[in-house]
Amino acid sequence: MSIFEERESDIRAYGRLFNTVFKTARNAIQIDEQGKQYIDFFAGAGVLNFGHNNPRMKQAMIEYLQDDGVLHSLDMQTTAKAEFMEVFTRVILEPRAMPHRMQFMGPTGTNAVEAAMKLARRATGREHIIAFGHGFHGMTLGALAATANSYFRNASGVPLTHVSHEIFGSEDQPNAEAALDVLAEKILDPASGVEAPAAFILETIQAEGGVNVASAAWLQKLARVAKDVGAVLIIDDIQAGCGRTGSFFSFDELGIEPGIITLAKGIGGAGTPLAMNLVHPDLDKHWSPGEHTGTFRGQNLSFVAGREALRYFEDDELMQSVEKKTQYIRERLAPLLSDPRLSIRGRGMMIGLDTGDSERAADIVKKCFANGLIICGCGTGGRVLKLIPPLTIPMADLDAGLDTLIHAVHSTMEEAA
Ligand SMILES: Cc1ncc(COP(=O)(O)O)c(C=O)c1O
Repeated sequence: MSIFEERESDIRAYGRLFNTVFKTARNAIQIDEQGKQYIDFFAGAGVLNFGHNNPRMKQAMIEYLQDDGVLHSLDMQTTAKAEFMEVFTRVILEPRAMPHRMQFMGPTGTNAVEAAMKLARRATGREHIIAFGHGFHGMTLGALAATANSYFRNASGVPLTHVSHEIFGSEDQPNAEAALDVLAEKILDPASGVEAPAAFILETIQAEGGVNVASAAWLQKLARVAKDVGAVLIIDDIQAGCGRTGSFFSFDELGIEPGIITLAKGIGGAGTPLAMNLVHPDLDKHWSPGEHTGTFRGQNLSFVAGREALRYFEDDELMQSVEKKTQYIRERLAPLLSDPRLSIRGRGMMIGLDTGDSERAADIVKKCFANGLIICGCGTGGRVLKLIPPLTIPMADLDAGLDTLIHAVHSTMEEAA
């Protein structure tokens, strides 16, 4: 019996699914203790956009450690933090004329979401927040209230309150825009009995929820409704941001201006933990110093690696390669659509292959793993296979991973016929 079976909590999940012991990793390859190589189409659930052990980030972190750079600093001012903030301002915020300020909190996505929800409530003096069906925002109580999946919600042990869920406006939900009109009417009618919300919180592409892509028209309408009813628009870009869609933010070019943007996962660069909210100054002024704290605010090694990650956005090279790889993945998967049980959706290098059935998806995941590919299911019952390889994946690995996936899909779909 392994130490994991013997001593790790029953809560362990990915360790059961991918039951081997990984030892080393480089870009899109993980190698286990037996020396077996796996191509990584999961990238730490969207953390490793720039690959495992990215050489530039590794070098920068080694130098930082060798120079005795400050590792832990609460939210004190450090050289590493200043450099990260300066590069973020120059490369990401200024070109978009975004006046947003950077708020650091505990280093996980759920910490970012908690802070965003808290600030929206403070700034508006309202309690209620509107989230969306199939949305995923984290596991702490506030964020869990916004998370839709009952599997996670049922584990909370207490009522999850002050959040309700509306229809998410993906392309397969033609009624979502009309539903928004009705909602706006109710909120604006003082006799409707419907409370005005402090915020709307959503992902532009629901990642854990099944790779559901919001339509631009619905998003723009939602942004207008938020403005009309005086609610904060919170875009949770924790999984879809940091270049995943072929642009730094998932909402670039979509014509919306969120009041708060939550970032985590990829923002720390090398899998080094970091979370950061971008907060419009009109909202930020509602915080008092130290009112929302966290011991691990601002991880300096993450600032060092994160600063190197931002350099990928100084020119177009990586984002152009994301566009090429996206097209390539779609071309390779397209023939699968001759099977009417399968469908494909997504944006950029977040692509969902909907198998229509959880057992079929689980079988494909198992076969892929046996053949050296790490890929994971998402959406209702895990029936959607989510392709989120590192953006830096070499074409040869992408190709080989797609071969393995396509082979497994054919095999499972034939068996299920
Ligand atoms: C969109 C989104 N928000 C929030 C979270 C929560 O992040 P964390 O697991 O780091 O708390 C996740 C995690 O998958 C996510 O995908």
